[in-house]
Amino acid sequence: MKAVVIRAFGDPDGLEVVDVAVPVPAPGQVRITTEAIGVGGVDAVIRRGTLAAHGFQEGHLLGSEVAGRVTAVGEGVDASWVGRRVWAFTGLSGGYAEQAVAGVGDVLPLPDGLTGAAAVTLGGSGVVAHFALERARFTPGESVLVRGAAGSIGITAVQLAAAGGAGAVAVTTSSAERGARLRDLGATHVLDRSGAGGPDAPAGFDVVLDVVSGPQLPSFLGRLNPNGRYMAVGVVGGQPPADFGMRLMDAFRSSLSFATFSADTVPGPGRQAVRASQFADAAHGRLRTVVHGTLPLDQAASAHRAMDAGQVFGRAVLVP
Ligand SMILES: NC(=O)c1ccc[n+]([C@@H]2O[C@H](COP(=O)([O-])OP(=O)(O)OC[C@H]3O[C@@H](n4cnc5c(N)ncnc54)[C@H](OP(=O)(O)O)[C@@H]3O)[C@@H](O)[C@H]2O)c1
Repeated sequence: MKAVVIRAFGDPDGLEVVDVAVPVPAPGQVRITTEAIGVGGVDAVIRRGTLAAHGFQEGHLLGSEVAGRVTAVGEGVDASWVGRRVWAFTGLSGGYAEQAVAGVGDVLPLPDGLTGAAAVTLGGSGVVAHFALERARFTPGESVLVRGAAGSIGITAVQLAAAGGAGAVAVTTSSAERGARLRDLGATHVLDRSGAGGPDAPAGFDVVLDVVSGPQLPSFLGRLNPNGRYMAVGVVGGQPPADFGMRLMDAFRSSLSFATFSADTVPGPGRQAVRASQFADAAHGRLRTVVHGTLPLDQAASAHRAMDAGQVFGRAVLVP
């Protein structure tokens, strides 16, 4: 079968289309003939070699999120899975391929009306948006800032905050055009990446959901209202300065909270229940998924170039 591996760490030219053996599902796994493959930021991080010390070496077959039809099951898996259209998390490898394997606990049937492309746009990121708002104890009427809202986590978070009755949903983004698209999804105030702009935007927020982190994180900590909660869910802008916590100590009398959130800390059944509910909402048009564009699997490098250039709004998707 056709698959995309990292021939050489670095820019997207180092990705290569190769022929590899069709994977055999191990006990507890299913095999899926893919129809849509999500292209995530973490794929670019692995491609650059940033995670080489964590076992991600050249030759690695990229991809973690696919949709398609189950064609085989491993030992111990109910044979009734065969033939079903599903979404699956494949771990941090194996997704950029015509066939992929996944543990049955990370597989979810697709409802009628949900495309594979929509599923790989929502499946991994939607649960992050949901549980991050829940862990931030967001309640109706509160003001929310989503930093780095133009990715698939932020796009879902904006919609969930708006649907949850937020008093204001501000976003940071890099252009007016992207801001207009986020307004269409429920944002009420559009700020630039530094947090400036939106003259009528609230000065402070009860909840900040941050996909970016990076050097500017302390200045966004400064945007919390008294009793405000800051939830860091991503690092697309890199790590924050080592002393960022001083910003909290300096505002001691405001009772601020900072937390990181990883969906890995939510037990699998909880993730799957929320994912199933979000898939149903998306199938019925209650939750919108934004597919930036679809490209053939053998053009994975082009999808990575678009990601590196900051052109992707939502999620890029590959189709075999
Ligand atoms: N917490 C979890 O459980 C979990 C799970 C999966 C992934 N993640 C993490 O979530 C992140 C990816 O999320 P995503 O796919 O939604 O994001 P994304 O699409 O990679 O990025 C979101 C937006 O951030 C903005 N951005 C990019 N670089 C920036 C910078 N240097 N400074 C300021 N803004 C910048 C861009 O929008 P504009 O150009 O419009 O500003 C971009 O569209 C990764 O860090 C990944 O590791 C976390």
